[in-house]
Amino acid sequence: MKKRRIVVTAALPYANGDIHLGHLLEYLQTDYWVRFQKMCGHECVYICADDTHGTPIMIRARKEGRTPEELIASMWERHFKDFSDFQVAFDNFYSTNSPENRELCHTIYGRLKQNGALFTRSVEQLYCPNCKMFLPDRFVKGTCPKCGATEQYGDSCEHCGSTYGFDELKDAHCATCGCKDLELRAAEHILFDLAKYRDYLQTWLHDHTPADVAKKLLEWFGEDKELLPWDISRDAPYFGFEIPGYKDKFFYVWLDAPVGYMASLKNWCDRHGQAFEDWWQNPDAELYHFIGKDIVRFHCLFWPAMLHASDFKGPTHVNVHGFLTVNGEKMSKSRGTFLNARVYLSHLNATFLRYYYACKINNTTDDIDLNLEDFVQRVNADLVGKITNLASRGAQMLGKRLDGRLGEPDDEGAALIREALSRADVIAAHYENRRFSQVPVEVCKLADAANAYFDAHAPWKTIKTDPEGTRKVLTTILNLFRILAIYLRPILPVYADAAARLFGEEPWDWAALGNPAVNRPIGTYEYLAERIDPKQVEAMVAEQKAIFEAAAPASKPAPAAAPAPDASPDAAEVPPLKPVMPFATFEASDLRVARVESCTIVPESKKLVRFELDAGPLGHRTIFSGIRSAYPDPSVLNGRLILFVANLEPRPFKKLGVSEGMVLTAGVSDTELRVLSPSEDVPPGSPAC
Ligand code: MSP
Ligand code: ZN
Repeated sequence: MKKRRIVVTAALPYANGDIHLGHLLEYLQTDYWVRFQKMCGHECVYICADDTHGTPIMIRARKEGRTPEELIASMWERHFKDFSDFQVAFDNFYSTNSPENRELCHTIYGRLKQNGALFTRSVEQLYCPNCKMFLPDRFVKGTCPKCGATEQYGDSCEHCGSTYGFDELKDAHCATCGCKDLELRAAEHILFDLAKYRDYLQTWLHDHTPADVAKKLLEWFGEDKELLPWDISRDAPYFGFEIPGYKDKFFYVWLDAPVGYMASLKNWCDRHGQAFEDWWQNPDAELYHFIGKDIVRFHCLFWPAMLHASDFKGPTHVNVHGFLTVNGEKMSKSRGTFLNARVYLSHLNATFLRYYYACKINNTTDDIDLNLEDFVQRVNADLVGKITNLASRGAQMLGKRLDGRLGEPDDEGAALIREALSRADVIAAHYENRRFSQVPVEVCKLADAANAYFDAHAPWKTIKTDPEGTRKVLTTILNLFRILAIYLRPILPVYADAAARLFGEEPWDWAALGNPAVNRPIGTYEYLAERIDPKQVEAMVAEQKAIFEAAAPASKPAPAAAPAPDASPDAAEVPPLKPVMPFATFEASDLRVARVESCTIVPESKKLVRFELDAGPLGHRTIFSGIRSAYPDPSVLNGRLILFVANLEPRPFKKLGVSEGMVLTAGVSDTELRVLSPSEDVPPGSPAC
């Protein structure tokens, strides 16, 4: 067998939200595929990273009073933990905000410029004078010019589905601060001349993308239609990489995000003594991207054109999957079906979702439904009832009654084992071709045969009269189970590795199929999988619903949710951070009353004010607070009683000093925030709760 060298990527998750079960559809199927390649002995690396740049991340960091770097560092930890707990084994999970990525972006940009792929032109965009920023479409809201629905985005109406230019939108206002006095401002932008690569793309699409994706994209730029240039620059303020040779001009996040695949691979190569060129540029190496259907434009048009125009090798194939629905509908926060990875994990075992998704995922772009009843049913009936039961019944009886020693299968058993092994190539082909759903189908068929054999031989009866005959039957059953567990290992790695321990073996590779477990002791049976109680699923949905309601109570207007980035319709629904706080954590915060001695503008900052506080017996405190847009003249707060968190870790603000706590405020948007005040008869320093 020729050893293949394969780079595999999954799309880089945005760092502005938690991982949800929709994301996992992608990261899990990619993981199945990579693990299969590794089991076959190929050199295969699974590359990913957080996608950290862009307006939504900048805005969210602003709102949370932290720097974008702080936000992305904490999101990286959360993402990494979620992926690890779902047994997703990236070889490298990196960040697009990395030195490697900056350098590669510079290289690519330099080559694009040199090869005449770029041009500049003046672009008019809405500008919010209050936020002091240009507004991407999703940061503008207004009334739909077609149907009159209010609070619609600047580019499309979610109510009637029509699309329009921001200049057609009525009552346009800034989605972040509500400002209505938006200006139309022109700025120079840098554009990628996509039309230049039309011929290249036309052939490239045929060979490297799924037929339906190619067809759709080709229709889209059919002969008479223009391939519009792609705007790759954004003006400050923006969180991203500054474009060389410009000031206050940044690469658009969708330029540096796919380059992040290369950067993460480069980082992996550097850490493993490998040359990047041997992996990316090597004509014998393969490169596969796994993506959702919402981002094909970026991966099947801009990205290959950009790589081609900068003399880099393009992907071997882009694998595109559909979207996740839950109980047949789009994931919904109010129904509790916008399921967060962490919420799932606090109720259910990751192995179960890995199994269920495998039952559903194929190499097509069709949407995939997580039906929660079906989920319970499949896991309980098939994974537990059919497959795991073989091991638990077989191993426990062998252990208790027959000294835990495997013998040899009888003739009938040997034939069954041969039959099971004869499916190896078919199953391998299903993995290779990403027809994952066929793997559990094959495995369950074999498990049915094994269970029929078990029941026909009734070892629980024969154990008393014919122990050695029974040993043969149990040896057969356990060997059949062993084969099934090897088949399932790319999908259920933790499960299969526990099964390997039962046989006293190292984690299995595909070749382990050839070594039956005979005439040797077996270990003690450890937990592999137990039935799901439907109540666990109910509890998960209830918790998710409660989290959503806590974040956006139905009766009150929702605080301006972080709007979606320009490209992903999905990202509008950023799941809220989990607000379930142990009482001890709450108790740990020391809230106190203080009197404002003075509150002044911080000239070095656009958003900070400086509080000097008299906290009674606690002494004097200085606190910086990001409420300037709500209090253009903060001296109105002088003399007021306020509430503040007194035991917060002091936080240095560059050049300004240290902030010794946090002043409590309330309000629905940055401009409407109000400082909270207790009544005048509570002296400074009093505790609050
Ligand atoms: N940051 C971009 C990708 C940049 S790649 C250079 C992005 N991020 S994302 O977090 O919104 O999505 C990451 C991946 O998850 C995408 O491939 C997307 O299609 C997939 N999914 C996100 N929500 C999904 C569902 N509800 N269902 C299935 N896949 C989904 O896009
Ligand atoms: Zn604004």
